[in-house]
Amino acid sequence: MRWFPRALSSFRRGGEEVLPSPNIWYYQKAYEVENRAQDVDGEIWRVLAGYRDWSGADVLDIGCGDGFHLPRFAATARSVVGVEPHEPLVLDARKRVERLENVEVRQGRAQRLPLPDAAFDVVHARTAYFFGPGCEPGLREAERVLRPGGLLVIVDLDVTSEPYGRWMRLDLPHYDPPGVEKFFARQGFACRKVMTRWLFEDAAAMEAVLKIEFSAPVAAKAIADVRRLNEVSSGSGEKRMTLPVGYRVHTRVKPTGLVVPGHSVSSSGVASSASPRIP
Ligand SMILES: C[S@@+](CC[C@H](N)C(=O)[O-])C[C@H]1O[C@@H](n2cnc3c(N)ncnc32)[C@H](O)[C@@H]1O
Repeated sequence: MRWFPRALSSFRRGGEEVLPSPNIWYYQKAYEVENRAQDVDGEIWRVLAGYRDWSGADVLDIGCGDGFHLPRFAATARSVVGVEPHEPLVLDARKRVERLENVEVRQGRAQRLPLPDAAFDVVHARTAYFFGPGCEPGLREAERVLRPGGLLVIVDLDVTSEPYGRWMRLDLPHYDPPGVEKFFARQGFACRKVMTRWLFEDAAAMEAVLKIEFSAPVAAKAIADVRRLNEVSSGSGEKRMTLPVGYRVHTRVKPTGLVVPGHSVSSSGVASSASPRIP
């Protein structure tokens, strides 16, 4: 997370359209371990399905990285599109889903989605691009490609949660969690906090993941904390390690039946412009 403040401020100035993601760009193997460890009880998936069942639906995953979440959507969705700007990840995501006929991966950015208007029922982004102020162009694009009544869902880490959020705050002293929540509320989102459990096969996996997420001193502290949290179970011969991690799930439904004056109506006959809540 040490890279995050610099990347974010440059992004807010509009200087950088692709938000650097060193964890998955440079440590892809460890990031795969992280993705497999995350939310082992499926809490986030349960919450998402409670908002909108995507069976038979058209789903878009923005900032899909190497496509980890695409097969899960594809199992029941009609179609799934992943959009990712970083070319090596686009290629790996395509490899991951090559046997899945209803999935396609496109190279592109949240701010200029290479996709038609009103084509998706669910637009999902997980810990990608939508981190608060500065992501308005991506919000407008997500709204454009959603069908009326469609759901935009943004999953990110809850920087106020314990203990993971505390380690994040050590690396991000200027990050303003209430400010970010207010930003999403102003943009018309509801926010739900979800507590999850990460499960690592062993201490080496846990250390590898925390080292790609935090600066060296914060990672050392986090590793010591997780070892302490797991002391009792390791005494019983259990090698696996768990870690509670909180997320925020921001959701917004595109209004139906609205034609905003001065905006076009798409060929499907429904209002395809941004909702009036979008500045
Ligand atoms: C931390 S990774 C998360 C990847 C994936 N969502 C996952 O959960 O495995 C963040 C991703 O966002 C991508 N990204 C960065 N800037 C972006 C932008 N402007 N539009 C869309 N994606 C972006 C990065 O290339 C990276 O793949």
